[in-house]
Amino acid sequence: MIDACGAAQSVLVLGATSEIAGATVARLAEGGRLERVVLAGRPGRGRVAAAGRVTALRVPAVELVDFDARDRVGHEGVIDVAFDGGDIDVALLAWGVLPEEDSVRAAPLAAAEVVDVNCTAVVTTLLAATRRMRAQGHGVIVVLSSAGAVRPRGSTAVYGATKAGVDALATALGDTLAGSGVSILVVRPGFVRTRMTAGRRPPPLAVGPEDVAAAIVANLGRGSRTVWVPASMRYAMAALAVTPRSIFRRLPI
Ligand SMILES: NC(=O)c1ccc[n+]([C@@H]2O[C@H](COP(=O)([O-])OP(=O)(O)OC[C@H]3O[C@@H](n4cnc5c(N)ncnc54)[C@H](OP(=O)(O)O)[C@@H]3O)[C@@H](O)[C@H]2O)c1
Repeated sequence: MIDACGAAQSVLVLGATSEIAGATVARLAEGGRLERVVLAGRPGRGRVAAAGRVTALRVPAVELVDFDARDRVGHEGVIDVAFDGGDIDVALLAWGVLPEEDSVRAAPLAAAEVVDVNCTAVVTTLLAATRRMRAQGHGVIVVLSSAGAVRPRGSTAVYGATKAGVDALATALGDTLAGSGVSILVVRPGFVRTRMTAGRRPPPLAVGPEDVAAAIVANLGRGSRTVWVPASMRYAMAALAVTPRSIFRRLPI
């Protein structure tokens, strides 16, 4: 169970090698209560290294489950394996790809694959995780959306569209869970300095994965439904949301 400080005993990470997920697990382990971490991701050296980092945090049980976001048929099975091994307090949906916009614009099938990975796979895993969490009667599902989801921009239209879909589903589904003991926390970071954004110039409100982790853990015990990182991003996006389209499309963002 999650206590008022956000301390959890068991975590399922979908996106085993995600830097944001790694920082979040490290933060959760700080209290010393974390007993079980299930790392679901593609097999390989990155996942082995991620498991080593969790073990180094003195988490007693670290389990590996194969998860490929493109394999939608297998997703319910991935969720079932994790929940069959014991209650999951926190499920973190933290995989994703950020494609070069020009390359996916030029290759519609590649764009469709981005949609499969970033959006369709959230539909399948989120619905499956919600069903299992409802049955256990408690827990939080953390969904990595993006600040840009509230108004996708032309420079990242395909990625932004996937995040808009994810954000809409997670927010609406979260409303159906009121009173169930289960909640969905929609996380809307701006630019985060991770492998995903390597080589891109950080904008003024850029943060590190530890900042996202701190915001997630702080909001777990509060029953929050949405968290912006940094918090000021909420106001920046509120202003952008009402910016006339003729101006918005010219902004260098
Ligand atoms: N970084 C940012 O600026 C930012 C901002 C807002 C939201 N987000 C969101 O936050 C989440 C985590 O991002 P991050 O910054 O931590 O990125 P990251 O460190 O690059 O991690 C991305 C993760 O996605 C996994 N992945 C990619 N394709 C996959 C597939 N087909 N099947 C299974 N896993 C796959 C990668 O696994 P492999 O090791 O197998 O490749 C890796 O674990 C993403 O949803 C991202 O969209 C990030």
